[in-house]
Amino acid sequence: MRELVLSMFLIFFVFQCVSSVPTKEQFESCLATNSIFKSPFNHTQDSQIFTDFSEPSSSPSSSFLNLNFTSLKPILTLKPRSETEIKKSILCSKKLGVQVRTMSGGHDYEGLSYLSLSPFIIVDLVNLRSITINLTAETAWVQSGATLGELYYKIAKTSKVHAFSAGICPSVGVGGHISGGGFGTIMRKHGLASDNVVDARLMDVNGRILDRKTMGEDLFWALRGGGAASFGVVLSWKVKLARVPEKVTCFISQHPMGPSMNKLVHRWQSIGSEVDEDLFMRVIIDNGQEGNQRTVKSTFQTLFLGGIDRLIPLMNQKFPELGLRSQDCKEMSWIESIMFFNWRSGQPLEILLNRDLRFEDTYFKAKSDFVQTPVPENVFGEVTKRFLEKETPLMILEPLGGKINQVSETASPYPHRRGNLYNIQYMVKWKVNTVEEMNKHVRWMRSLHDYMTPYVSKSPRGAYLNYRDLDLGATKGTNTSFEDARKWGETYFKGNFKRLGLVKGKIDPTNFFRNEQSIPPLF
Ligand SMILES: Cc1cc2nc3c(=O)[nH]c(=O)nc-3n(C[C@H](O)[C@H](O)[C@H](O)COP(=O)(O)OP(=O)(O)OC[C@H]3O[C@@H](n4cnc5c(N)ncnc54)[C@H](O)[C@@H]3O)c2cc1C
Ligand SMILES: *[C@@H]1O[C@H](CO)[C@@H](O)[C@H](O)[C@H]1NC(C)=O
Ligand SMILES: *[C@@H]1O[C@H](CO)[C@@H](O)[C@H](O)[C@H]1NC(C)=O
Ligand SMILES: *[C@@H]1O[C@H](CO)[C@@H](O)[C@H](O)[C@H]1NC(C)=O
Ligand SMILES: *[C@@H]1O[C@H](CO)[C@@H](O)[C@H](O)[C@H]1NC(C)=O
Repeated sequence: MRELVLSMFLIFFVFQCVSSVPTKEQFESCLATNSIFKSPFNHTQDSQIFTDFSEPSSSPSSSFLNLNFTSLKPILTLKPRSETEIKKSILCSKKLGVQVRTMSGGHDYEGLSYLSLSPFIIVDLVNLRSITINLTAETAWVQSGATLGELYYKIAKTSKVHAFSAGICPSVGVGGHISGGGFGTIMRKHGLASDNVVDARLMDVNGRILDRKTMGEDLFWALRGGGAASFGVVLSWKVKLARVPEKVTCFISQHPMGPSMNKLVHRWQSIGSEVDEDLFMRVIIDNGQEGNQRTVKSTFQTLFLGGIDRLIPLMNQKFPELGLRSQDCKEMSWIESIMFFNWRSGQPLEILLNRDLRFEDTYFKAKSDFVQTPVPENVFGEVTKRFLEKETPLMILEPLGGKINQVSETASPYPHRRGNLYNIQYMVKWKVNTVEEMNKHVRWMRSLHDYMTPYVSKSPRGAYLNYRDLDLGATKGTNTSFEDARKWGETYFKGNFKRLGLVKGKIDPTNFFRNEQSIPPLF
């Protein structure tokens, strides 16, 4: 299936190549001319524009990259230093007929922010990442190029009792992450990152800057979970901060997979999303090593928004099977819990500012599922068997429920709310970057995903946009019909897909902002 889709891309690309692709020099020359602007414009402050023509700020690692088409390279990478420069990038791309790929943190699972099979430029927002916190209002304006780590660091330096509800990995960019939902350790209490957006500034296909008031509620709705890449360039988000206690508690509980662990994980399924919203207990299944023997282990990695004194009785009541003792737990600040979840306890907080912190030199393929009724115990036995065939497989089970369920399925594009117990993220990583290696691992991943079919959400089988998966389907060119895109669109958005199409039809009717999984316009 994937091979088929990709060969279709290739044919499309070859077709595109016949018509001439603008060169880097042509693009630079367009940027240097002011005549592309119709309205009076202040250029004096732009004398040093686009000083940075260079590699994208993030080092790519998606499996898509393994295809090794030289044609996947951008005409150039722009790192604008002002919103005016973003406007120029958009207008020149339109004029020269090339695509824009907007990149914030560059963590897209299929590399759609820095790869394309059509001629394109990258607009890398790395230089636009200021963060302004208003503690009185408990809000922050965050420019899209900021990472979660930068945001968390700034919040922690400003207040001991505030946080933001978003993902765990600090190098993830707010631009992509918040527009795709945003799962993290305090989401059961405070909702997804996208649920905490109160305003946004977007640049549209004509270079106009819109905020919540001027864009209207439909477009504002779409940006909060629908993937901003389809609608324009998000310049900045205004987000609601969360209140957290000065002391929170973390623990990990790790055990080899086997009959008793299968039982424990099975039991967790009915607890994780039901228990007190202060408790976020996720399960990581991955491989370990005992001597020369490969093993599979399971880790309960937990944050509790409160002290040990309250956590122990709660665990004894709700999950006594885990046998948690107070000496297994550690009290810390919220920002230290971010370090804890990144296996970096005790290291300097400044690590959160490192934008390259992720899977170094590793390629991966990921998929996701939503689970609505507990998976039978023996499934964990089969998963263990399959994991033993692989060097670095990974499964992360993240509990939902709580605040996530208090939002209706249509209130934002993210639809996987009431009725879902947890999300599964599957991942397999590899180091040697050959087509054969990639095919082998991707085949394994697809087979695991197929095996899970009877146990996960159905009609449609759900998937999480931020764990993007091109196997679900992809579009090509400008010509994709809305009906064709439905297949993958409804896995991410269910019934909200149609409304996303209508919003797209209004804000970007010519489908300028597009990628292999962007929303096609509907009129
Ligand atoms: C190591 C790692 C850990 C992760 N951990 C979590 C986690 O804990 N929770 C979770 O929910 N997800 C997690 N993710 C997934 C992550 O949320 C998504 O990959 C997210 O889309 C990344 O955003 P980005 O800005 O870094 O990526 P990018 O690749 O820059 O962007 C992703 C998509 O958004 C578009 N985009 C980016 N910026 C803008 C903008 N300003 N305006 C319009 N469109 C834009 C891009 O064009 C692309 O289509 C993780 C990913 C990785 C690689
Ligand atoms: C244009 O730039 C000049 C010089 O920097 C500045 O004084 C002026 O306010 C700017 N005008 C606008 C409309 O931004
Ligand atoms: C911060 O928020 C408060 C309350 O909404 C508001 O009155 C104040 O003007 C804001 N401060 C800044 C610097 O924007
Ligand atoms: C990718 O293509 C280049 C140029 O054709 C080639 O030298 C290189 O070996 C290829 N790499 C892989 C992993 O196929
Ligand atoms: C685009 O769609 C139209 C109408 O469906 C069709 O006639 C045309 O050939 C398509 N173009 C491409 C490039 O696929």
